[in-house]
Amino acid sequence: MTPAAAPAVDTAKVKEILSRHPAGDAGALVNVLHDLQAEFRYLPEEALKLAAEHLQISQAQVFGVATFYEGFHLKPRGKHVCTVCMGTACHVRGAPKLLDQLERDLKVRAGGTTPDLSVTLETVNCVGACALGPLLIVDGEYHGNMTTGRLPKLVDSVLKEGKS
Ligand code: FES
Repeated sequence: MTPAAAPAVDTAKVKEILSRHPAGDAGALVNVLHDLQAEFRYLPEEALKLAAEHLQISQAQVFGVATFYEGFHLKPRGKHVCTVCMGTACHVRGAPKLLDQLERDLKVRAGGTTPDLSVTLETVNCVGACALGPLLIVDGEYHGNMTTGRLPKLVDSVLKEGKS
């Protein structure tokens, strides 16, 4: 399946977000990036360029900060995020099978996003809830002792919500 294409960026919205921060204030960069990501769910390249102009810093500085922090995403993200814990405890309890099934059902590889931008599938290495393993996290909600049998219903409900 083809990867998710970046949607067109609403530059008026970007400019509105930038206007909340003083022009030329390089110290506002992280806050600007947070605000942009809160709006678009990722940091579109065009928005980063406009941010550099607004804050009067180089694009390299903006991209440097955007790529430094794990919490910032440079590729389009889905409306929903499914995260499979692949830490040791979850791994030995069947997390790889969950991930395989999710990749098949969603038709997207781990780290990818469905072309309709409904779901991003990702992995994480232990979130400290090992007793619940294997653990699937959907939009921040923990689903412990997950089984391949329970997955389809959960995925269905996520996808349905994605279309609403
Ligand atoms: S290994 Fe999955 S929560 Fe710790």
